[in-house]
Amino acid sequence: MSIFGMDLFDVDDLTLNDVLLIFETAQRFKEAGFAKKWTSLKGKTICTLFFESSTRTRISFEIAAKRLGADVVNFTASTSSLNKGESFKDTVKTLDAMGIDLYVIRHTEPGSPMMLKKYTKALVINAGDGIRAHPTQAILDAYTIWERFGKIEGLKIAIVGDILHSRVARSNAKLLTMLGADVTFVGPNALMPMGAEQYGIRLSNDIEDAVNDADVIMGLRMQLERQTTGFFSSLDEYNEFYGITPKTMSFAKENSIFMHPGPMNRGVEVIDSVSDSDASTVEEQVTNGVFVRMALLYLINFKNEVI
Ligand code: CP
Repeated sequence: MSIFGMDLFDVDDLTLNDVLLIFETAQRFKEAGFAKKWTSLKGKTICTLFFESSTRTRISFEIAAKRLGADVVNFTASTSSLNKGESFKDTVKTLDAMGIDLYVIRHTEPGSPMMLKKYTKALVINAGDGIRAHPTQAILDAYTIWERFGKIEGLKIAIVGDILHSRVARSNAKLLTMLGADVTFVGPNALMPMGAEQYGIRLSNDIEDAVNDADVIMGLRMQLERQTTGFFSSLDEYNEFYGITPKTMSFAKENSIFMHPGPMNRGVEVIDSVSDSDASTVEEQVTNGVFVRMALLYLINFKNEVI
């Protein structure tokens, strides 16, 4: 079992078999339901080490870990002794000295999960590092598609919006192409990353053409906090050309779905009549996030309970 005992920095740490095992394990946890408690992680301490804001990722990791019987401690940078000048290294050494078994880290700096690993023997899961990677989001997104369509291979998936600043787009593109999907990045040139073609991704500035016959339209948040210069004239203008509307969805297949990793900027990358429609899987993705993270923690760490 290659996934046992490993760190997760990005989706390319996983094999196809690992991903399918995570899906099947998440499905079994989902079938058992939210109320069921497990003991696989009893006696283990998991630290959520967040240097950047989060609602979904942090809370779903905490719920997942607690459902599996772990103790969870939450480190928040803004209220820690970092404010008194303590270094990242000493912060990690201090936490390690209190017996942490696994860290879930989110940081604004790309590569910070690997930096953390230099200072600890505990396992590390990346919960989002700058614009680089967000592997657990990609796995839960892929799981949601797999659950809806019963497959991923051959599906046409359009990822729309601020690709340049999106760790979700990067991890999703790698994972979905690994699983055999046909992925297109859609957005204005200024928000396209260099070298996206290396993952076998198509690039398009024409949203109607890119979503034509698509099975999945994935909107991305306009990441204004990561944008240092004006990438487009105004949010209204962005919305006019790239906002996902019922008209956009009408070009896609009849049973197509709208996905978004959240948090959403309503009225910017998507309008309410799409994000709140029956085609939207936004809340389903959040629910699946708990079961996918349970599966990951179970498989990576302490697999000693038959589920
Ligand atoms: N999708 C996602 O990572 O959401 P949060 O920033 O709320 O964790």
